[in-house]
Amino acid sequence: MEGPELLRLWVLAALALAVSPVTVPEHHVLPDLRLSAETGAIFVHELEREPFLEAFSGSEDDDAPVTFRAHLWQRPDLPRWLRLAQRGPGQPGFLYGCPLPPELGTHRLQVLAYNRRTFATASQRLDIGVTPAPGGEAPFQAEFLVGNRDVEELLPEAAREMFLEASAGLWERGDLHVINVTSALDRGGRVPLPIEGRKEGVYVQVGSHSPFSPCLLAAVSPQSRARCHRGQRPLASCYDTFAPHFSIRWCNLSLLQVVPSPRTPGPEWGPGVLEGGGDFEPPGDVAPRELLSPFLVTLLVPLAVAALLCLLLGHLMCCRREGVGPRGGPGSMARCPRSLQLFHHGSILGDTRELRLMAGRRDVPRPLSTLPMFNVRTGQRTDPMASARHGARAPLLPP
Ligand SMILES: *[C@@H]1O[C@H](CO)[C@@H](O)[C@H](O)[C@H]1NC(C)=O
Ligand SMILES: *[C@@H]1O[C@H](CO)[C@@H](O)[C@H](O)[C@H]1NC(C)=O
Repeated sequence: MEGPELLRLWVLAALALAVSPVTVPEHHVLPDLRLSAETGAIFVHELEREPFLEAFSGSEDDDAPVTFRAHLWQRPDLPRWLRLAQRGPGQPGFLYGCPLPPELGTHRLQVLAYNRRTFATASQRLDIGVTPAPGGEAPFQAEFLVGNRDVEELLPEAAREMFLEASAGLWERGDLHVINVTSALDRGGRVPLPIEGRKEGVYVQVGSHSPFSPCLLAAVSPQSRARCHRGQRPLASCYDTFAPHFSIRWCNLSLLQVVPSPRTPGPEWGPGVLEGGGDFEPPGDVAPRELLSPFLVTLLVPLAVAALLCLLLGHLMCCRREGVGPRGGPGSMARCPRSLQLFHHGSILGDTRELRLMAGRRDVPRPLSTLPMFNVRTGQRTDPMASARHGARAPLLPP
């Protein structure tokens, strides 16, 4: 490539970068949604494409490919009991699962929808309140393997109703409900070959409070299982009401009898408990309370009492000292009356004089040991004045 041509390309590229506005994919937020689920029963929420397509304001096309993702609010994953299924970007998504008693409470999720054509995203907050099933856990449970369906095909309400109707014909009971729906792929099944009509297979768990019908019991009898092992059709003692919509793999039928767990006596419900399954809505905002007067009362009343006590104590200590004599010290002496002071002084002088007189009148001989220069052996006294005169020449002991 030659020099001028390269330069022209550079200039064109720079112009294109400067002119084209920087497009940041938009994000839209849909209004929050509150859903409710019961323990021991399937919960299904269909993520319809339409509200999200409307939220992507820029895209007018109604068949934009949309991918759904879901996770717990501010957490990376879905709760253990919930799964998300979406066959393709042209299909709706399904959040489904069966909560158990440990999952009671509210689960807050965030659903993200991603438009793969415009890169726009939309999110929605879901609050799923899980409440206990009123009748408790269904003790009789049967799990059917439907061979000609994918999991999304059995999740819509209408499909589940149809399945229940078909199973009611076999079970001869009216209180059936779907407990769980699981793709056979989640249980070690194989991805089917891409041939028209081949499906993954779905396990549908149905529960009831009434015992299994003889027809179901016959399908799981040892003779029937033995035939399955030999690759033969199992014993069919009744008309298969599932056909032709659902092809049930009778060899994979399993019946489960759950021993109802002994109901631990729950807490006594006092007054103030919400009626019938409603969720608690906390009050939005509380009116501000007037707290100044209680504050003043708590602060000022003890202060006033303390001040009163101080005054009373001060009065008692300073002004009510009648009958208590002065206790020495210049201040207390100064307060004494003058005549009393003079009397005090005079009495001290008189006492001193009397003591002196008494000391002068003592004519008892002085003890010898108090006399100066006394010889212990001879008892001879030397005149202290004389020895002072002779100095060191006077012997202390006589020869
Ligand atoms: C429902 O099926 C899923 C997948 O097989 C399983 O993990 C879950 O424990 C099942 N739930 C109940 C309540 O049986
Ligand atoms: C159905 O049962 C047969 C034998 O009973 C077993 O070999 C097969 O894997 C099961 N199918 C599925 C999808 O689990």
